[in-house]
Amino acid sequence: MKTKVIKISRTDFIDVEFKETAKAIKDGKLVAFPTETVYGLGANALNAVACDAVFEAKGRPHDNPLIVHILHPEEAEKYADTKNEPLFFRLAERFMPGPLTVILPKKPIIPDSVTVGLSTVALRCPNHPVARKLIELSGVPIAAPSANLSGKPSPTTAEHVIEDMTGRIPYIIDSGACDVGLESTVISLKNGVVRLLRPGYVTLEDLREICPKVEVSEAVLNNLKQNEKPESPGMKYRHYAPSAPVTMVKGKDRDVLEFFKIELKKGNGILCFDEDKSLICDGKESDLVISFGSRSDQLAQANGLFDALRRFDSTGVEKIFARHTASDHLGLAISNRLLRACAFDQIEV
Ligand code: TXA
Ligand code: MG
Repeated sequence: MKTKVIKISRTDFIDVEFKETAKAIKDGKLVAFPTETVYGLGANALNAVACDAVFEAKGRPHDNPLIVHILHPEEAEKYADTKNEPLFFRLAERFMPGPLTVILPKKPIIPDSVTVGLSTVALRCPNHPVARKLIELSGVPIAAPSANLSGKPSPTTAEHVIEDMTGRIPYIIDSGACDVGLESTVISLKNGVVRLLRPGYVTLEDLREICPKVEVSEAVLNNLKQNEKPESPGMKYRHYAPSAPVTMVKGKDRDVLEFFKIELKKGNGILCFDEDKSLICDGKESDLVISFGSRSDQLAQANGLFDALRRFDSTGVEKIFARHTASDHLGLAISNRLLRACAFDQIEV
């Protein structure tokens, strides 16, 4: 299949630029598009065959449901049962449009291909102007997982999507880098109880301002035991991972950096903060030491993490050691992704 890449400015576009891609979505074809979190691989959410094709293109396991993207929270009622969950609208008022996904009981209009037969559906209103225009002009809700091959880090630039999806889908919209760089916060809402299933840019601290009693799923920071059923199926897979195995290294900063120096000498890859780089390399440059943001800037870390993980694939390293990070605010999402990238392999030095 030939893949057409269409550049559309994030801020300055006209409707006609979406002519082909909006029609493609409506007609059941796949289009990768930018959101404020990561690039999504979109399909008409009301078309079961189109949604099946998403799983095919990504190599996604058939037990991992898709998020449905809509324009306004008021439309949620068409696809999910919001009547019994007044908290949905309070959360929506504060966080939508934006990087928050809410899981609610689904209505029959959403095909089983989207929800893999679950009784719930995940809904999100993205705030990226290009994503919103695509939803508006296609005239249908868009089901979209992240536009990476299953298991790879989510794509935060069109180049990442091109790397993974060329030849597999007909269209990629290129609007440059995503703002956040990590996927949306996923919560479930049931009988007025909010549970955090996947941390993201909307933090636990943010959610607790609206709803003081947010529960946190075990799977956010812990490995699931064998045969344990995850609340969010995506949480059971090794994810966000480069080809080489990653190990997370904990300990006092000085000890961690000493350990990194030794591993670098053995030819292993190091994932660290910007400030660590020159200390690990003794002021020299090394392609094997890749940083993902400043120690003091969590948004920069979120922005840089997936690109940094992808960059190891061209280094040919056999092992990667990553530093641990703080787990407050946006740090919870960063730690959650790092823990999955290393499949919970951690050592203490
Ligand atoms: O930021 C994002 O959320 C991006 C952009 C494209 O919107 N999308 C994204 O989708 O990250 P995906 O498919 O990579 O991750 C969706 C997560 C998975 O962990 C999936 O298991 C979970 O949401 N999920 C979706 N529907 C669910 C449901 N009904 N019940 C439980 N978990 C669900
Ligand atoms: Mg994904």
